[in-house]
Amino acid sequence: MLKTNICGVEFQNPLMLAAGIMGSNASSMNWILKSGAGGVVSKSFSLNPHPGYVNPTTVAVDGGIINAIGLSNPGVLNFKEELKKIERKNNVVIASIYGANPDEFSKLVLEVQDYVDMIELNISCPHAMEGYGASIGQSCDLSHTIVSAAKDASDVPIIAKLTPNVTDIVEIAKTCEDAGADCLSLINTLGPGMKINIDVAKPVLSNKFGGMSGKAIKPIAVRNVYSVYEEVDIPLIGVGGIYTFEDVVEFIYAGARAVQIGTAIMDEGVEVFSEINKGLENFMKQKGFSSIDEMVGIAHD
Ligand SMILES: Cc1cc2nc3c(=O)[nH]c(=O)nc-3n(C[C@H](O)[C@H](O)[C@H](O)COP(=O)(O)O)c2cc1C
Repeated sequence: MLKTNICGVEFQNPLMLAAGIMGSNASSMNWILKSGAGGVVSKSFSLNPHPGYVNPTTVAVDGGIINAIGLSNPGVLNFKEELKKIERKNNVVIASIYGANPDEFSKLVLEVQDYVDMIELNISCPHAMEGYGASIGQSCDLSHTIVSAAKDASDVPIIAKLTPNVTDIVEIAKTCEDAGADCLSLINTLGPGMKINIDVAKPVLSNKFGGMSGKAIKPIAVRNVYSVYEEVDIPLIGVGGIYTFEDVVEFIYAGARAVQIGTAIMDEGVEVFSEINKGLENFMKQKGFSSIDEMVGIAHD
């Protein structure tokens, strides 16, 4: 009943781990999969190891958290070893990659595509170093170049992950579709935002600002999915502030075929996956739905 299909890849249920939360090694991704997620997205990684920012890199605020981890990762060669160790049983594994230019994205695709079902392009991190992340996803030209390069290199479906920090997300979504993206995930963190420690009169985060995630961003994420669904034909994955099955239903009604969950795991633990699946199945039975397919986009006129 909970199965969903995206670009020919079958998910046992529509829930997956969002990039950057517990996705840095095989053992934590295996744990998430055993806890009921239909799929996992890895932490974003690059060609070479990258240290990221010094602590503090996250801070809790009303309605969520602000993070500026700075895309720390051990580089593709180390990450590949983790991807190989993921226990593959009816689950979907997605690698999240980032780079500074088309060549880096193509090389990353070629390195990892044999070990994953799909590849997500992080062109949307709001606290990445200049030239990476949202500085790509805020430009139609750069988004087009990067998505085309990744698509040309890839044998597996390509997901472009979008930033909400743009004037018109629909324009970027259409550009990514034109460039060959098979799917879009939205949204990455909002902002950037800032929290100031009033005792020392300084920003809390070492990077000063970071991306906002958690409950407060959900209405913005749902609206983005809704608007993009009206204008593109490729499947959408909803992300942002999902804690309950009701949240998932909102995203599916807005047009998502699956969702990703990040911050809720920090607050509620890995049990969030089985609890949402249980609630979603009960809801579907009560409302007379026999598949996720029947629910996708029904909030539209
Ligand atoms: C601590 C932390 C690290 C993250 N790292 C990444 C990352 O490496 N790549 C990426 O595409 N998104 C990253 N994100 C963004 C999430 O994948 C997600 O898009 C965002 O947090 C909204 O979902 P949520 O409210 O369920 O957390 C990160 C988010 C958090 C909170």
